[in-house]
Amino acid sequence: MKFFIDTANLEEIKQAKEMGLIDGVTTNPSLIAKEGSINFKEHIAKICQIVEGDVSVEVTALDVEGMLHQGRDFASISPNVVIKCPLTLDGLKATRILSSEGIKVNVTLCFSPAQAILAAKAGATYISPFIGRLDDISHEGMQLITDIVKIYKNYNFQTQVLAASIRHPRHVVESALAGAHVATIPFKVIKQLVKHPLTDIGLELFLADWGKFSKQANN
Ligand code: G3P
Repeated sequence: MKFFIDTANLEEIKQAKEMGLIDGVTTNPSLIAKEGSINFKEHIAKICQIVEGDVSVEVTALDVEGMLHQGRDFASISPNVVIKCPLTLDGLKATRILSSEGIKVNVTLCFSPAQAILAAKAGATYISPFIGRLDDISHEGMQLITDIVKIYKNYNFQTQVLAASIRHPRHVVESALAGAHVATIPFKVIKQLVKHPLTDIGLELFLADWGKFSKQANN
């Protein structure tokens, strides 16, 4: 399972890279806006210099021509760039065209298996089902991941399932159990993944015992 970090913050990306766990980055307009008054394209170029893997950058145009224009423009920033298109009819048309030009596309804002089938048929490299936002409206977000993985396997679709809108470690584990190819994870959740109280207690005990042993050995 690949881990992408779901952020546009350079410091978080650098720290996650140092952990050695990150295979790519996903951004969206909300995450970019959080970074304040940055130069958008320069900022994406900086992200691409930090990470070696795929960096998803979202178009904001709503029509095919606008999406193609932005998609080609963003893709020219770096070979790492993957274009995020929304799951609309225009987004699917743009996905087909950009994919046929050799530009990878991540189809975003997926909330149903039907939408995921269309994204695969349009030639998307990634489909991004939003787990947390479905949970927010009392739907079972994880069922969507399970359903899409099964459908894609049934037809040998090459589109990779990128579990998005992850809110806590359980979302990561359940996505892995369901067979998602990628999880895009906020930095906070990446740090939560390592934590277990029994690890902390075990370490404390080992160090206390080692202290006793060292004292004896020195006598
Ligand atoms: O990048 C898309 C997705 O991960 C957004 O997550 O928490 O805003 O629903 P969230």
